[in-house]
Amino acid sequence: MLDGKKVLFSGMQATGTLTLGNYLGALKNWVTISDEYECFYSVVDMHSITIRQDPSELRKRARSLLTLYIAAGIDPEKNCIYYQSHVSAHAELAWILNCYTYMGELNRMTQFKDKAQKHADNINAGLFTYPVLMAADILLFQSDVVPVGIDQMQHLEITRDIAQRFNGIYGDVFTVPEIYLGKAGAKIMSLQEPEKKMSKSDENPNASIYLMDDTDSIIRKFKRAVTDSEAQIVYRDEQPGIKNLIDIYCAAAGKTPEETVKEFEGKGYGEFKSAVGETVAGILKPVQDKYQELVKDKSYIDAIIKNNAQKANYFASKTLRKVQRKIGFPDKIR
Ligand code: TYM
Repeated sequence: MLDGKKVLFSGMQATGTLTLGNYLGALKNWVTISDEYECFYSVVDMHSITIRQDPSELRKRARSLLTLYIAAGIDPEKNCIYYQSHVSAHAELAWILNCYTYMGELNRMTQFKDKAQKHADNINAGLFTYPVLMAADILLFQSDVVPVGIDQMQHLEITRDIAQRFNGIYGDVFTVPEIYLGKAGAKIMSLQEPEKKMSKSDENPNASIYLMDDTDSIIRKFKRAVTDSEAQIVYRDEQPGIKNLIDIYCAAAGKTPEETVKEFEGKGYGEFKSAVGETVAGILKPVQDKYQELVKDKSYIDAIIKNNAQKANYFASKTLRKVQRKIGFPDKIR
């Protein structure tokens, strides 16, 4: 609890270009629920370096992501939007938690296995302990809730395990966080291979809708989306392409699968795909326009970066001090 409100933490990596999956699975929900919580939204640039990054590109992307958070509708006066690397307590707590996390637990992480396979020439220790840094992010703010897409579920479970283990030894140090999944859109699939998650790192640009794609590209990509030859708009696992388009439509238009199936009953795939494309383009356009306006205001964004880093540091260092005392680190002499 902070100022009588429950605490929310979430973050995104400053790698690649945000996709519709990131938006519908996370960012859009952040905006919807932010009023109810004291929120911390981080640009997790420290996680990004588990994969080799071009330094100037990383800096650019981090700023652009932070700006996108605001463009998507998160009020930076009311919510703490900041760079993870500006709050050193993330790294300090991650080190401590590393000593309370088992190799066996980390070995089970499917995202580690996937990334290790994709980046076989750079399976670094950071990639392996990535979930521990994530646990540090969340526990540092005594977060009650963490809105993410389904792909982060395993990382949330290990965070809860680490928190409970730590509390079991030292008493109630950490709040054990709950995962928050949106009603729709928690797992958006590739438009070209609907059995695969839509991902920033997909090499095929037609597989993903990027947040900054223009209306024509969005509509074109949906038209090309892989479906099937069943010729019926039904929400079922046997038609993964159509199921994904229904999920996207539901998340974008705020409808349920039943309502969507009814709305398009008897209609062709072409008509349905156009409707999905137009709806998605319609919700992204205001975000894109706002983004273009914000990037011009350098001093405004700079002020947010500065003020929010101070705020995040203040709360994070409180938890860190508590943890350090519990485990027996000597007090600083002031
Ligand atoms: P990242 O940057 O890969 O993704 C950011 C958010 O987008 C969600 N997401 C999706 N949701 C639905 N469908 C998809 N296809 C899809 N792709 C991505 C993710 O679930 C996530 O919510 N490790 C995290 C970042 C992180 C974090 C944290 C999150 C670091 N520390 C602490 C929460 C709390 C990551 O790489 O997300």
